[in-house]
Amino acid sequence: MTSTQRQPTQSQPAQGQPTQSRVQDAAQRSVGTASPRIEAWDKVTGRAPYAVDHPVPGAAYAWVVQSTVARGVVVDVDTSRALAEDGVLGVLWHGNAQRLESVGDPELMVLQSARIAYRGQVVAVVVATSPEAARAGADLVRVREDGMTSDTVLRIDHPALYQPVQVNAGYPARSAIGDVDAGLAAAAVRVDATYRTPAEHHCAMEPHATTAFWERGCLVVFDGTQASTAVSETLAGLFELPPQSVRVINEHVGGGFGSKGGPKPNVVLAAMAARLVGRPVKLALTRQQLFAVAGYRTPTIQRVRLGAATNGRLLAIGHDAVSQTSQLSEFVEQSAVLSRHMYAAPNRLTTHRVVALDVPTPVWMRAPGECPGSFALESAIDELASAGNWDPVRLRIDNEPAVHPEEQIPFSSRHLVQCLQEGAERFGWTDASGRVVRDPRPAVRRDGEWLVGTGVAASTYPSLTWPSTALARATADQRFDVEVNAADIGTGARTVLRQIAADALDVPIAYVEITVGDSAIGPATVAGGSMGTASWGWAVTKACRLLRERIERDHGGRVPTGGVAVRADTTLEIRDRPEFSRHAYGAQFCQARVSTMTGEVRVDRLLGVFAAGRIVNPTTARSQFIGGMTMGLSGALLERSVLDSRTGDFVTGDLAAYHVAVSADVPRIEVAWLDEQDPHLNPMGVKGIGEIGIVGTAAAVANAVHHATGIRVRDLPIGLAQMIGKLH
Ligand code: MOS
Repeated sequence: MTSTQRQPTQSQPAQGQPTQSRVQDAAQRSVGTASPRIEAWDKVTGRAPYAVDHPVPGAAYAWVVQSTVARGVVVDVDTSRALAEDGVLGVLWHGNAQRLESVGDPELMVLQSARIAYRGQVVAVVVATSPEAARAGADLVRVREDGMTSDTVLRIDHPALYQPVQVNAGYPARSAIGDVDAGLAAAAVRVDATYRTPAEHHCAMEPHATTAFWERGCLVVFDGTQASTAVSETLAGLFELPPQSVRVINEHVGGGFGSKGGPKPNVVLAAMAARLVGRPVKLALTRQQLFAVAGYRTPTIQRVRLGAATNGRLLAIGHDAVSQTSQLSEFVEQSAVLSRHMYAAPNRLTTHRVVALDVPTPVWMRAPGECPGSFALESAIDELASAGNWDPVRLRIDNEPAVHPEEQIPFSSRHLVQCLQEGAERFGWTDASGRVVRDPRPAVRRDGEWLVGTGVAASTYPSLTWPSTALARATADQRFDVEVNAADIGTGARTVLRQIAADALDVPIAYVEITVGDSAIGPATVAGGSMGTASWGWAVTKACRLLRERIERDHGGRVPTGGVAVRADTTLEIRDRPEFSRHAYGAQFCQARVSTMTGEVRVDRLLGVFAAGRIVNPTTARSQFIGGMTMGLSGALLERSVLDSRTGDFVTGDLAAYHVAVSADVPRIEVAWLDEQDPHLNPMGVKGIGEIGIVGTAAAVANAVHHATGIRVRDLPIGLAQMIGKLH
């Protein structure tokens, strides 16, 4: 695996606001330079404590019992044999569980009623003195269920499909400009194709896990979460506690990918169990249990219609997405939203419909919306390029919009064209003069038994920022403590936040201690939506700059005995930002090969070129991009959750059946980024990089497979089934 980074050439001049000149000067020193992870040694030596690693005296252990029907009621729970088991301290079920106050998320109202809304829903919890005793006790709980006919399969013609008001992230479900049918009718070249993506599970290394205990009326939990502020607020609501009586600590989190973006049943159950037995409780879900309880990505069915004039200019873009949600709550994957800003076209229509099935509630997963949506849109663009005999890089460049094509507001910055050009040259798609040297004909390049091809896709992800608070403290010896309730879920968040703090304080990073992962620090946003660095970093920057001002103004430049501390909140700045369309963009290139003997599909090479604002730390950023592209590749070739329609059960319920890409699946991933300056984002100029690497990768692979074989795969993952019998 190799990766490269080059300081690019085609960047806009910096337009830093004068008031930020100090920060920007300091940024020369730490932000932008490689910095190793602060917690690296703790992690690789096993010293970093995850949620259930924290030593708590007298801990008991919980084990969940899950429903075996997808729809029905719990008629009775017989706990007598479980309670007779050695070490079992108690069994919770809806007949004896404490009542919770609703906070608007039915998924968290655990053990509150007899209703079963999906297979694998928790119907009882056994608490015991050891994990083994808890598990043995769980086997002895007799749950009598009354199952009803269930409906668990998403279909394009499902009669209960409806158009919601909004989709995930608050976008309207439908957006129309002009007349897409008229645009298609006027087009010289058209594509009308339907794409399918499967249900997928996050499969973070650390399972959903919680240690919980009650202390003088306060609830303390160690929870593997991306959002300890949200978890603490939710627990306060559910248990009717004052917010300051709940503390959630997530010092280290072993991945999340969206599945830990909010509280999940495990944290509520652990708190209930701890109250029941009057001692700390540890609850770690097993890998198999996670497949029902911890969220997943909905399958999607997406129809894309494109029409272009003879010169390759798009006249119409239509993107209609269908997905599923649960009977408990509405989550709608925003798959068509990226089609609202990727390309110019006078006639546009994007719609979302959803159906509530007897399944677990889908949730954010690794670029929700953009990931499945880009597979459909970017495959369709490739199909249009083939149909019109246009180079797919050129076709995208020719349809670059000057402003957001639906909202008519300016982009804060957008360098998709430059990413495509830079990538095409690096990949060998074009020569140094920009001339296309790739042979566009499919199925003509052979390497022994292998057919080889190349493909491209564009990428994007929104540049979000959410209000957060941070604390900066100068201690007497000229050291600084900076605290922000960020979640470092394996991204390097604490490392880049220390860099940002050091520059805002105008000191080397060695002078700064950074603390994250504790709701007691004060409210901060989720490690999700690729917005952590932008959001937390802004609060850190503000706190550090205010601290410097305070030291200068009130203390004559000297830190007083006892130190001085400043707390900052970015709510108003973010509310008052001018209106811009803020997104990161990128280009994904792939070389794939398909065996004419076996149909095996392999990816030889991926190249991603991204324009994502300022890159704070090249080391951690490269890991983020490579990780994202690996997930994209994984989705392209391997990942699929298979649901048994008879039982509503995800039968691919472990890592033997649910395949994720490992190193051997990824021979070569290269990453590059442009030095993009954007003054309209936040004081650091960062856009967020956690998810854009995932977006477009699957389309780039599918497009490369088409170029290699002439076979167009519109159904992920790409595998033998679509190749066998069609290769020669
Ligand atoms: Mo990420 S799926 O926004 O947690």
